[in-house]
Amino acid sequence: MLYWIYALPLYLFSASWRSWALPIVTDTQAILDTGHKNAKILILGGGMAGVIAARTLHEQGIEDFIIIEARNELGGRMMSHRLGDEWTVEVGANWVQGTQTGDGPANPIWTLAKKHHISLHSSDYFGSITTYDYSGPTDFQDTFQESIRNFDRLTATAGARVPQRLVDMTARSGYSLSGARPSSPQEMASEYYQFDWEFGATPEETSWLAASWAHNNTFRTFSRQNLLSTDQRGFKTILRQEADAFLTDGQIRLNATVATVRTSTSGVVITLADGTQLTADYALCTFSLGVLQHDDVRFIPAMPAWKQEAIHSMAMGTYTKIFLQFPEKFWFDTEMALYADHERGRYPVWQSLDHESFYPGCGILFVTVTGEFSRRIESMADAAVQAEILAVLQAMFPDVAIPDPVDFHFQRWYNDPLFRGSYSNWPANFLSEHQVNLRANVNERLWFAGEATSKKHFGYLHGAYGEGRDIALLLAECIRGGGCMGLEHVDRVRNALPYDVA
Ligand SMILES: Cc1cc2nc3c(=O)[nH]c(=O)nc-3n(C[C@H](O)[C@H](O)[C@H](O)COP(=O)(O)OP(=O)(O)OC[C@H]3O[C@@H](n4cnc5c(N)ncnc54)[C@H](O)[C@@H]3O)c2cc1C
Ligand SMILES: *[C@@H]1O[C@H](CO)[C@@H](O)[C@H](O)[C@H]1NC(C)=O
Ligand SMILES: *[C@@H]1O[C@H](CO)[C@@H](O)[C@H](O)[C@H]1NC(C)=O
Repeated sequence: MLYWIYALPLYLFSASWRSWALPIVTDTQAILDTGHKNAKILILGGGMAGVIAARTLHEQGIEDFIIIEARNELGGRMMSHRLGDEWTVEVGANWVQGTQTGDGPANPIWTLAKKHHISLHSSDYFGSITTYDYSGPTDFQDTFQESIRNFDRLTATAGARVPQRLVDMTARSGYSLSGARPSSPQEMASEYYQFDWEFGATPEETSWLAASWAHNNTFRTFSRQNLLSTDQRGFKTILRQEADAFLTDGQIRLNATVATVRTSTSGVVITLADGTQLTADYALCTFSLGVLQHDDVRFIPAMPAWKQEAIHSMAMGTYTKIFLQFPEKFWFDTEMALYADHERGRYPVWQSLDHESFYPGCGILFVTVTGEFSRRIESMADAAVQAEILAVLQAMFPDVAIPDPVDFHFQRWYNDPLFRGSYSNWPANFLSEHQVNLRANVNERLWFAGEATSKKHFGYLHGAYGEGRDIALLLAECIRGGGCMGLEHVDRVRNALPYDVA
């Protein structure tokens, strides 16, 4: 294990503890000196990680915590939207990704979904797909099947490098070295479907090794099954109902946006956007990596260099689902469609909700874009995005008079100061030590958890769940011990060998 924890009373700490501790910030200290704290722990953010951290503290017999959430509901990136005043669609997380194989480890999200009777449908996104390109329906199923084999080869060749301690590279290098060098629009669209559509980023932006172990840790450890939530209460119901079972009114503040987080040796002071101050012994920050990268919240003192380096070397991907509701269905009967444009990543992945497995008769179709393309459309007016999409549909269905949609919606994740993207993605320059540092507390008072701090399951709901639980367990141990130093970090991340620049 890379972490150790000192569950020792604070008075036992020696000089090394003092040199490591923060200098006292006078005004923060003055606020804390005024006496009674609002709670032992403030949990910053009410998404999967925050709610599961709270539940874990509760199970550990610690009730003195408050969840602080900017929105007026729990859920975070589990976010639903009413389309056409009629259908609940998920603009954020939608799938249970990986379930269980035999009596192997189960995805905890699947366990929660069963417990709260969420309507789930198996989503056959490799088997039920129709292919199109700019000239209309075009059968490139062979190319698509080849892209599945290419992805398998990518993860296998990565696996072969690990025991040999060969360096990481981008997934693009990995693809090229393992013989996959897509060049036609159909090949690029097929590769996009295997890669960008999962990671929210391109192979150029992504680590070869981490993409491979992330894929294995979810789809080979749990299972290859993807279950789509079609629950009209919203997928977030798993968090709502979980919270309802233990959370009391005094343990949560909604509509409360954190503006600054101040720490001193004796505690934390959180200032909300409306000026309210809350004090505690500890803060557990579950804000997205994107929020930390964009300075939406001020940390006083500023985070140490090792933490800033970790925050800025992990990447945040964007994944945007654009929903259209039409008077009636005019499209494919499969669950999915793949569209190959001349430009890679231009409106490539289409998903029909008007399908017997999902919401028959709903007239809803959505298209997903990622990364740079997401950021591009976020800066455009809805009407302009809709016009582009209708033109693509016209190319896919040359014989259909495409009707105007009756409803249209997409979430601008990247520009939202509460998210700044969709989920984290591990780039080739992010080293194992950076991962340790992203997860580590910056002093005894300020802790971190969320999908991005998960080594095995970054990007996923189950990653956020595991981190909320594991970090809360460490905090509980720390509280019971009367203080601790917490997780180890690496002060300077170095190359194994120096660069030879002579
Ligand atoms: C479009 C999209 C699709 C996805 N699809 C899937 C999927 O199908 N399956 C899957 O497993 N995962 C999926 N994910 C990933 C999954 O949603 C996340 O990994 C998970 O929800 C993250 O939980 P979290 O608790 O770490 O963070 P969050 O859910 O972001 O929780 C952090 C909370 O902090 C709050 N907050 C932020 N700033 C402040 C502030 N200043 N003051 C107060 N509160 C603040 C936010 O409102 C939020 O509620 C998807 C994500 C997106 C965006
Ligand atoms: C939060 O704000 C919304 C809208 O401003 C309001 O409807 C809701 O009651 C508020 N919730 C809480 C818990 O204050
Ligand atoms: C992923 O799983 C495959 C199949 O078991 C294996 O060959 C490969 O080495 C694994 N890759 C990594 C990076 O663990």
